[in-house]
Amino acid sequence: MKLNKQEVVQALKTITAPGSGENLIDSKVVKNIMVFGDEIDIDVGLTNPTLQARKKLEVTILEVLHEKIHPKAKIKINTKVESQPTALPIKGKPIAGIDSIIAISSGKGGVGKSTVTTNLAVTLAQMGCKVGILDADIYGPSIPTMLDLEGKRPLSVNVDGKSKMAPVKNYGVKVLSIGFFTQPNQAVVWRGPMAAKALNQMIFDADWGNLDFLLIDLPPGTGDIHLSIVQSLPLNGAVVVSTPQNVALADAKKGIAMFTQESIDVPVLGIIENMAYFTPEELPDNKYYIFGKQGAENLAADKNVPFLGALPLVQSVREAADVGRPAALQDATPIQKSFTEVTQNLVTQLLKRNSTLPPTKAVAITNMVGCAAVK
Ligand SMILES: Nc1ncnc2c1ncn2[C@@H]1O[C@H](COP(=O)(O)OP(=O)(O)O)[C@@H](O)[C@H]1O
Ligand SMILES: [Mg+2]
Repeated sequence: MKLNKQEVVQALKTITAPGSGENLIDSKVVKNIMVFGDEIDIDVGLTNPTLQARKKLEVTILEVLHEKIHPKAKIKINTKVESQPTALPIKGKPIAGIDSIIAISSGKGGVGKSTVTTNLAVTLAQMGCKVGILDADIYGPSIPTMLDLEGKRPLSVNVDGKSKMAPVKNYGVKVLSIGFFTQPNQAVVWRGPMAAKALNQMIFDADWGNLDFLLIDLPPGTGDIHLSIVQSLPLNGAVVVSTPQNVALADAKKGIAMFTQESIDVPVLGIIENMAYFTPEELPDNKYYIFGKQGAENLAADKNVPFLGALPLVQSVREAADVGRPAALQDATPIQKSFTEVTQNLVTQLLKRNSTLPPTKAVAITNMVGCAAVK
């Protein structure tokens, strides 16, 4: 039996490549074909890594070649899984000097979004990363209080002949907050286009310098402001914070739906369950599930979104937020450990997402790992 390579190519052209309208040859799913005597060697590159997808394609190739070429041809298929080049959409233009922009969101207010944002930020800073927080919560900008920056004002600096806003800094975290520009009782007027404009200025007309992470503390809910933020900024991903309570979960679901809807398409890097259980400081092994058990964890499983971890409700977290020194800065406490775990899980998910980026962007982001004791 002597087989002809051209006939093999023609036969493979009758098979449609999975997830594409094209055939296996035109879609370049088949990388290489070698024919020696009665043996056909085929190299295949698939973007869908599931065993099922792989087996299905291999079986189809075998069937077609046995039918069209020779029933006794010896066929070897070498399948490699390739990363998808454009799976992660980066909205807007990347911002020079900022590697990753992550939105921290919650459907409901008061679930601990700002607390989580500040603690993630100081944890990343302690790991050696360059971190900024953009406090975009026009309804209740609380980052200045939580980082002991109340009353501070960003200065104007000259960068290449342009006047820019310099973020203020504490605990190694650079901060710009809508709270720096409003009086607390004025907050409600900062809505709609005004807010969107101010936010754009805080991002594009600010001197952030080089950042590994810019965390954005979004307002609660899923309103117009969210849409303008997520559509105008090059977000790498979003994190959803929820308590285990049903009312909070229902709103968290809306948040996930917003990010994943087709016109927005921002990857949800994961869900953080805050106030997962109450632990009295003096009885650290006792856990009371006062808002229900594992609600956010179950939601993550249900929506097929990574679960980044559970944070307990402890008095010291609230006290630390009130005095402006995040609890994650308390050395070797259980709460510091919890924040470290959640932060590491977040970075792991981010790197996973970024590994599916086009090479240039992925390279820029991989350099960031230089900052991270995040392994
Ligand atoms: N894990 C926690 N343990 C104790 N108190 C918490 C915890 N998370 C948040 N809090 C407190 O709950 C209140 C609301 O949190 P905050 O971060 O302001 O919520 P959001 O930004 O979602 O509105 C604050 O007083 C905060 O200190
Ligand atoms: Mg808040």
